[in-house]
Amino acid sequence: MSNENTIDQLKHRHLLGLADYDADEIRLILQTAREMRTVLDRPIKRVPSLRGVTVVNLFFESSTRTRISFELAEKRLSADVVNFSASGSSVSKGETLKDTAQNIEAMKTDVVVIRHSSPGAPNFLTNWIEGVVINAGDGAHEHPTQALLDMLTMSEIDIPSHSGLADFDFSGLNVSILGDITHSRVARSNIYGLSALGANVTLCGPRTMMPVEVEELGVRVTDRLDEALEGCDVAMALRIQLERQGGPLFPSLREYHDRFGIKLEHLKRYPNLRIMHPGPVNRGVELASEVVDHERAVILNQVTNGVAVRMAVLYLLSGGTAIE
Ligand code: CP
Repeated sequence: MSNENTIDQLKHRHLLGLADYDADEIRLILQTAREMRTVLDRPIKRVPSLRGVTVVNLFFESSTRTRISFELAEKRLSADVVNFSASGSSVSKGETLKDTAQNIEAMKTDVVVIRHSSPGAPNFLTNWIEGVVINAGDGAHEHPTQALLDMLTMSEIDIPSHSGLADFDFSGLNVSILGDITHSRVARSNIYGLSALGANVTLCGPRTMMPVEVEELGVRVTDRLDEALEGCDVAMALRIQLERQGGPLFPSLREYHDRFGIKLEHLKRYPNLRIMHPGPVNRGVELASEVVDHERAVILNQVTNGVAVRMAVLYLLSGGTAIE
């Protein structure tokens, strides 16, 4: 795989998902995010790149990391920022997404960041909004900026046998995604992104949590945790999403932890294993509490990288001026 950056701008107008973003586009975002990281390390963490650009954050679903990091990213780039949440808006009085979108359009905004429980809601918005639409997580469909920040975090891990990681060449990197794959937009976006960069992806979880079309995703599938962790460089544990499950998909959280939770014994058995989690973590379910706090867990690095990745996406999609 070539490490050369062959493009200097994105081919897409929006970021709705990573399914149709190719390796060049993903690499361009990650390289730009790395430059944005330098802004975050400065005493004055602000550049004028998006001065005059108005961004609306439309959050119809709860969020901590994504919402705060989008807002921080927008402010670091000097954009004008408007925050909207469904509670306290006219959505709670019955207004439709189309009407909400058309009203936002009438106010002449430039970028809309949307989180919604319905898969396809960001795509739907592009019918009614002239500006850029960025998906901040839509149901069980995609969460592209999460996967991008995950890939940026992986590129910073020092793995001597994978010297290309820093150049976003992930060929030969073994990544296991553990847990509730069916309901996970994070898993879906990571499968697309990691596969585009050349990583080997293994999915592990109860069969009841594997999507029916899983074999078509070009990934390895197992329901045995040790099989997923043997030879694995990065294990990404997913949150058990009780709010998206129609009914219980496993007997109890304790049994889930016994069978699929990463514990200290796994860190001892697999000394090169690094741990990631998109958050919010259910301590003692996906990960033992000591694993969350372990030095081989890079969960807070993921959060830091979230700001840089969102700055990069906003900058590239809204044609910002170069950072200095
Ligand atoms: N990872 C993630 O999307 O977290 P939030 O739901 O807190 O935004």
